[in-house]
Amino acid sequence: MIRFERVSKHYPGGSRALTDVNFTIERGSMVFLTGHSGAGKSTLLRLIMMLERASRGKVMVNDVNLSTAPDRMATLVRRGTGMIFQDHKLLKDKTVADNVGLPLLIAGLRYSDIRKRVRAALDKVGLLDKENSWPLTLSGGEQQRVGIARALVGMPPLLLADEPTGNLDPALSRELFTLFEQVSEQGVTVLIASHDLDLIRRMRKRVLVLSGGRLADDIPAGDHP
Ligand SMILES: Nc1ncnc2c1ncn2[C@@H]1O[C@H](COP(=O)(O)OP(=O)(O)O)[C@@H](O)[C@H]1O
Ligand SMILES: [Mg+2]
Repeated sequence: MIRFERVSKHYPGGSRALTDVNFTIERGSMVFLTGHSGAGKSTLLRLIMMLERASRGKVMVNDVNLSTAPDRMATLVRRGTGMIFQDHKLLKDKTVADNVGLPLLIAGLRYSDIRKRVRAALDKVGLLDKENSWPLTLSGGEQQRVGIARALVGMPPLLLADEPTGNLDPALSRELFTLFEQVSEQGVTVLIASHDLDLIRRMRKRVLVLSGGRLADDIPAGDHP
């Protein structure tokens, strides 16, 4: 599903974010991406979203080389990718259901279809009873789950998360990772950038370790010390 071949990324001004990175991620797997602050985690995710272009090498997603794909491909790539950030940026003046349905509204789906899909997505994250609530009345963990429902509502084959547990306590973080695990078990490829090492170890999934923009380690699933 995702393949990096000798990928390097330099930002204008000379900052080297990634150097000669190689890996393959199979469809339906769940993989963690870790490394110190500035190691290149967000850059790697941004390349997969086509928010940045590689300076060298190939970024392959579903056999399309994003390094050379035309700019208009970006819309297509993002439509097939759910993205979750630390700060989920929910709209305060819209209900939970309207926040989750927004990507479908933009995509032009019919209202009745949107409602059905929104309820399915909220059910997946255990928030069906909050569909008419306002985001600010929810706890931090619940707000984060609304963000995940919004990322899943378009049924994307790929889910990317950049430090999704940044604001959450350990118990909620664990819950969130378990939710990602369930999503991957339904066939969605899940890639999560996180520096929560304890938690990552406990999940016993494959871990890609970045250090100074290089892939320093690739720990297979189940193989944690
Ligand atoms: N837009 C940018 N312009 C210039 N340098 C950047 C930009 N974004 C990230 N960098 C640099 O690239 C390196 C990797 O950053 P990043 O991918 O954000 O790492 P991480 O997510 O692991 O903290 C850092 O040295 C950072 O300063
Ligand atoms: Mg980052």
